[in-house]
Amino acid sequence: MTDTHGLSAVTHPLPERCDFTVFGGTGDLALRKLLPALYHCAAEGRLSPDTRVIAISRSTYDDEGYRALVADALAEHVGDRLDPAISRRLLDRLHHIRVDITDEHDWHRLAGVLKDRPDFAETVRVYYLAVAPRLYAPICRQLGDLGLSQEPARVVLEKPIGHDLASARAVNDAVGAVFTEQQIFRIDHYLGKESVQNLLVTRFANTFLEPLWNSQWIDHVQITVAETLGVGERGAYYDEAGALRDMVQNHLLQLLCLVAMEPPIEIGREDVRDEKLKVLQALAPMTPARIDRDTVRGRYRAGRIGDDLVPGYDSEVADNGGLTETFVALRTEVQNWRWAGVPFYLRTGKRLDERRSEIVLVFKEPPVDVFGQRAGEPNRLTIALSPEEGMKLQLSAKEPGPGGYRLKPVSLDLSYATTFDKRSPEAYERLLMDVVRGIPTLFMRRDEVEAAWTWCEPILKHWEDTALPPKSYPAGTPGPSAAITLIERDGRSWQEHV
Ligand code: BG6
Repeated sequence: MTDTHGLSAVTHPLPERCDFTVFGGTGDLALRKLLPALYHCAAEGRLSPDTRVIAISRSTYDDEGYRALVADALAEHVGDRLDPAISRRLLDRLHHIRVDITDEHDWHRLAGVLKDRPDFAETVRVYYLAVAPRLYAPICRQLGDLGLSQEPARVVLEKPIGHDLASARAVNDAVGAVFTEQQIFRIDHYLGKESVQNLLVTRFANTFLEPLWNSQWIDHVQITVAETLGVGERGAYYDEAGALRDMVQNHLLQLLCLVAMEPPIEIGREDVRDEKLKVLQALAPMTPARIDRDTVRGRYRAGRIGDDLVPGYDSEVADNGGLTETFVALRTEVQNWRWAGVPFYLRTGKRLDERRSEIVLVFKEPPVDVFGQRAGEPNRLTIALSPEEGMKLQLSAKEPGPGGYRLKPVSLDLSYATTFDKRSPEAYERLLMDVVRGIPTLFMRRDEVEAAWTWCEPILKHWEDTALPPKSYPAGTPGPSAAITLIERDGRSWQEHV
């Protein structure tokens, strides 16, 4: 039984028989996110009891050694909620196979293990590629050659899909030569966040916002993803990528799409992806003049976050040419009837003063000031993604008391944590189960990924051509002052924490 209304399902269909094969099974993503997510799915009865998890890496673990590694990871990342009996049952289903991807013998061993179940042909085989993208093509080729790619197989690709448009196309071609588009699940974990899905519910399961959701009533939109973490162990990857490729090309543009898209006909299948694609295609093209005016790059130097002194990017990452940005702010517009003239300001950075991700829609001021004074603040709808998930609507209210009208900004506040007496699942839990059930809505389609690169590429190219170093900002601050100027120039300001 497959639910085609991925977002509206309130009950889970029966779990499908499944084998999860995780390439990169000993890596950070597998241990920190994927296996804890599978644990929660198992705990909630969403995994078929005969599911196997087959971890692939070049390490020499036997099954027991790998299970011990995962047991530690579950203890660390599931924490107090860990039920030893459920954990034991999941661990018993884990296997580790050493595969050197250039070794035919290793591949045949893997094929033998996968085919070694009587219901092989009906078992959903999920191949999760948590490895460097240069390995996507050779892995898929082998899966095809060994007869492991036919339905109901599905392949999951982690970002980054390519480094630019040409390399994204090359990855998509190589994977597409083996798997059909319906079998390919390109993960953007932001789409699995509860608050991001709730944005769709807020927009399309309520009526009161829709008449206001356009250029007539909305002055501008801000999307902020601020992190206090630096690049940690991922310096080698990050130094090649930078913030535009790591965050803007995918997460921030996906958020922008969900804010700006037209209502889909229904939430299942292709409609949401069709509408998001139209938004990407309507983004104002980034010409060199626009890029100089409307983008800011930054890079952190040493500074203090809370009580901690943290090093600068230069001393965290050994080998860099001085051009990698750890911060981006930019201004863009969606050139269609709904949004023409409404600026969308995006910013993201590492080692900032706080961890905060949110989308803010700032409404226009009332057309006439009947109270003879400004409330001081326009209406704002804030959709908070982290650290707490929720929604806040800022209104003007009368401060109690005689002697005329004193207006104050006040908030209607919806916190998920206090409204719902439920654990808010991690993005990967939802997404992994959607892969198993074959629901593509919350994954990026090939044309979306390529449209996002088409828009980003001129920015990357212009930055490369001009070769100006990013603006330096001290760790523990909101980023370079040029990002503040970018929005203040338009007579607006970033929403700081309320
Ligand atoms: C990843 C980026 O996709 O998202 C990281 O590669 C970033 O650099 C992370 O830190 C942020 O995700 P979240 O869910 O912690 O906001």
